[in-house]
Amino acid sequence: MSEHGMFRAITAPQPGGPEALVLERREVCEPGPEDVRIRVAAAGVNKPDTFQRMGVYPPPKGASDVLGLEVSGTVDAVGPDVTRWKTGDEVCALLPGGGYAEIAIAHQGSVLPKPAGVSLRDAAGLPETVFTVWANVFEAGALRPGETFLIHGGAGGIGTTAIQMAAAHGARVIATAGSDEKCALCRELGAEIAVNYREADFVDAVAAAGGADVVLDMVGGDYADRNLKCLNTGGRLVQIAFLKGSRVEIDMMPIMLKRLTVTGSTLRARPLAEKARLAAAVEKTVWPWIEAGKIRVVADAVFPLEEAAKAHALIDSSGHAGKILLVP
Ligand SMILES: NC(=O)c1ccc[n+]([C@@H]2O[C@H](COP(=O)([O-])OP(=O)(O)OC[C@H]3O[C@@H](n4cnc5c(N)ncnc54)[C@H](OP(=O)(O)O)[C@@H]3O)[C@@H](O)[C@H]2O)c1
Repeated sequence: MSEHGMFRAITAPQPGGPEALVLERREVCEPGPEDVRIRVAAAGVNKPDTFQRMGVYPPPKGASDVLGLEVSGTVDAVGPDVTRWKTGDEVCALLPGGGYAEIAIAHQGSVLPKPAGVSLRDAAGLPETVFTVWANVFEAGALRPGETFLIHGGAGGIGTTAIQMAAAHGARVIATAGSDEKCALCRELGAEIAVNYREADFVDAVAAAGGADVVLDMVGGDYADRNLKCLNTGGRLVQIAFLKGSRVEIDMMPIMLKRLTVTGSTLRARPLAEKARLAAAVEKTVWPWIEAGKIRVVADAVFPLEEAAKAHALIDSSGHAGKILLVP
């Protein structure tokens, strides 16, 4: 901490580009009854943070205005009703906000132990994407071993996590990405096929591979209709974002003829009890995959906290492959 009782944190008081990020000093508070205070080792940078910075994705009611949806670090203090965690524990946590800081507060049910074999720093890159992929691909999409899974944005934070989790589960993975280098990373992480969407039509590639059973999409726009074309009978399309827009034109006939399910969700606004349920499921199934070396954090770039604007410029440009981390 920079001064006694104070810590440094990043906010975006005025909407704008990366330069809108501001380094502030905040007072250290006592954790609430069920909260865990974490001395932050690293914070993950996620695309939704850039939408918050632009003023189009405000924090939910009661959440910190400090940016950041995930951290790793060491427990510094716990509230009186916290049962599992104690000072000194090495953890990572999903947050509704407040991660880009030296000190973060998490609800006890959103905290997980640092998995063995992952550095404390890299553990910051796990919660947001692992929870999102679990909730959308494994729960809503009900991906089964042996099925074929199509993931767009395969080289991004969500994408690199989704490829590895689906492969660990025994699914066949097809990924799309915007360059040959990114496609090579997708294959290295477990994708059987990686399509450079700038050079080839993923619909043809998926059809040649026998179709997809589950699609995780964050692109929307013209991908919506094309995703429906990719799905096999009984297939599931799960939307987690709309980088190319959410007002789309689709032919709904395939939904009827192939008995498709179209669904989607957000993570941040879910109730604490729901996040605790997801945390328990993730710890039971995904943590052993991580500890067995089947899933790693692809930490592409690490910036000091005060250079959060550089981290945002990088994620804005999609120049990264994997996760970007901030270190206080
Ligand atoms: N609903 C939820 O619960 C939830 C939770 C977390 C994140 N999200 C959303 O999921 C998305 C991904 O998040 P992230 O943190 O993984 O971001 P990220 O690391 O920036 O990954 C996004 C990827 O998509 C690709 N992409 C960007 N624009 C594209 C386009 N127009 N067409 C095709 N591909 C495009 C990018 O690289 P290339 O184009 O070079 O391949 C990039 O690799 C974001 O939109 C985020 O808001 C949703």
